[in-house]
Amino acid sequence: MVDLRVRVGDLTLRNPVMPASGTFSETLSRMMSFERLGALVTKTITAELRGGNPTPRVAEVGRGLLNSIGIPSKGLDYFLEHILPEFEPFSTPLIVSVSAPTAELFAEAVERLDLPGIAGIEANISCPNIEEDGKAFAMKAKSTATVVERLRKTTSLPLWVKLTPNTADIASVARAAEASGADALVVANTILAMSIDVETFKPRLGNIMGGYSGPAIKPIVVRMVYQCARAVDIPVIGCGGIATADDAIEYMLAGASAVQVGTATFVNPSAMLDVIDGLERFCERKGIKRVSELTGMVRDVDMTVDQLETIP
Ligand SMILES: Cc1cc2nc3c(=O)[nH]c(=O)nc-3n(C[C@H](O)[C@H](O)[C@H](O)COP(=O)(O)O)c2cc1C
Repeated sequence: MVDLRVRVGDLTLRNPVMPASGTFSETLSRMMSFERLGALVTKTITAELRGGNPTPRVAEVGRGLLNSIGIPSKGLDYFLEHILPEFEPFSTPLIVSVSAPTAELFAEAVERLDLPGIAGIEANISCPNIEEDGKAFAMKAKSTATVVERLRKTTSLPLWVKLTPNTADIASVARAAEASGADALVVANTILAMSIDVETFKPRLGNIMGGYSGPAIKPIVVRMVYQCARAVDIPVIGCGGIATADDAIEYMLAGASAVQVGTATFVNPSAMLDVIDGLERFCERKGIKRVSELTGMVRDVDMTVDQLETIP
């Protein structure tokens, strides 16, 4: 028997596998038991009603998916009245993903989520901050600190902070989030990208640019998880291109305590369950008693001084 439990801050999860925000909804319970997952993560909600971006909003490009969904949201009132009760029957910890365009509005939304049935908050700070020229909070350590500090003062719930890969120095953003009171980091959101149809000369997305996800981004995000896990003491949750148990193991070896599965669920709706089963089989085969032993177990390689200097 392998112990699949992992700890993410004060939460103990029955296994390290959960959905990535926006790629999962309560309706999936019709085809899989939510009781098997480590946690449930909602699509990002915003306080106000928001439309999405212009269509087309998704395009398959190479070994990945380009999307510019744009956080459409029916608003917090709707979420509390209609979506939250849908999750009530499940004992699996529910993490609510939240976003807002200013630190103040972020805090107002988070304050309203201190409710029974909500196990934690995932602050999606990869969204535009209107006080910083529309640049995502998580692009800079300073704006990350401002919003996370504000949220930490607002809620005593576990506070996970989801970072953007679209930053020059993710390790310093990770340190700022930790110093400001984050309980865990989710690394990472989608990678800013663009694709053009050469027949029509038009961008494939109505919004021109969008976020890239899926298998193609995995090596980039594994690198970021490695950097973040070395930079902070709080748990890191890996997210980017995970479709199989091997992908999840790679993230854990790089330093992730848990993982999120996103785009893969669109291709294979039971991808998360396959990852859980595969993790168990892997541990059995390797004689590993607790899956948590994998975290950060990547073996050192002999590195030159130059190579070492590139790792913050
Ligand atoms: C269609 C789609 C919608 C998404 N919506 C959200 C969202 O609402 N909030 C969020 O934090 N991330 C959102 N994401 C990003 C995912 O949660 C995840 O960070 C990213 O896709 C990388 O993981 P993956 O390669 O496993 O998909 C979305 C991704 C996709 C593909």
